[in-house]
Amino acid sequence: MASRRTLIAGNWKMNGHRADGVARAAALKERLAAAGAVPFDMAVCPPATLIWPVAAALASGPVLLGGQDCHPAASGAFTGDIAAPMLADAGCRFVIVGHSERRHGHGETDAVVKAKAAAALAVGLTAIVCVGETEAERDHGAAEAVVAAQLTGSWPESAGAAGGHAEDRLVIAYEPVWAIGTGRTATPADVAAMHRMIRTTLGSLTDRADQIRLLYGGSVKAANAAELLALEDVDGALVGGASLDADAFWAIAEATPR
Ligand code: 13P
Repeated sequence: MASRRTLIAGNWKMNGHRADGVARAAALKERLAAAGAVPFDMAVCPPATLIWPVAAALASGPVLLGGQDCHPAASGAFTGDIAAPMLADAGCRFVIVGHSERRHGHGETDAVVKAKAAAALAVGLTAIVCVGETEAERDHGAAEAVVAAQLTGSWPESAGAAGGHAEDRLVIAYEPVWAIGTGRTATPADVAAMHRMIRTTLGSLTDRADQIRLLYGGSVKAANAAELLALEDVDGALVGGASLDADAFWAIAEATPR
């Protein structure tokens, strides 16, 4: 059984200006540094305008930095986009790809998500690849089939130019669309079943499925984090709203089983 270190990642989405973003990052850095040995990694994914100032606030501390999206290309005429090498240049270690707000709000297909994940891997970033069904898909009993298809379709086959095993720099986040920002969380039984299915599906894509961290996202907060993080195939959380408050985000991380 592989040991997968819990990852608690905050997705700030399109929230924050320099003052509050930097203050939140600095508060988390201070807390994590003071906490000593903890059983989790912590990352924050600010909006693009805040990546550089947050990088400066986190510098040489234990809190890791991520972007929220990247373009498949390394550079070029793509107005409004941000490239994976730019994120790496700014000190990012992670990038979220295929978030449902990109899949559904910007029409991103599995093929696009796969190309973005490959672009991230090529520059040494860890891609947090998001998958998740809509409420209608769950109501029709299609949740597992939808998630399995997204996972397979979004899977980048190789680690690209950065070499090594792609699996070592891939994280999967299961985020049921209906649980995002709604205050509704999937039941622990549903999360456990879906994560088990994801692990099994990963087993058909790689012989290193046991190494890959599977995060749950969707209305994670301090009150439900402990029971979610205790589930066997839940290796962390991708937190939206609650990550905008340093205390609330810290409390979620503290719920990691020891
Ligand atoms: P909430 O925690 O606000 O539901 O958002 C989850 C999410 O989308 C994280 O990427």
